[in-house]
Amino acid sequence: MKLTLKADKKYSICTCGLSQTMPYCDNTHREYNAEKNTEYKSLKITPDKDTSIEVTCSRWKSVKKNSI
Ligand code: FES
Repeated sequence: MKLTLKADKKYSICTCGLSQTMPYCDNTHREYNAEKNTEYKSLKITPDKDTSIEVTCSRWKSVKKNSI
């Protein structure tokens, strides 16, 4: 997934695959971690200049939305 990022803005990228605002974290991982005893947390990115990046995560496609 290609993202266009603004300089000095903090982004939180979902790594658990459960966010309703993909690819951005909406803190759904907290509930999942509490229930499943896992330690997912978002990947934080703060670019120092406007840029575009490509991101992907194996969890995005493998996790089922109803697995909480
Ligand atoms: S909702 Fe997936 S890491 Fe936060």
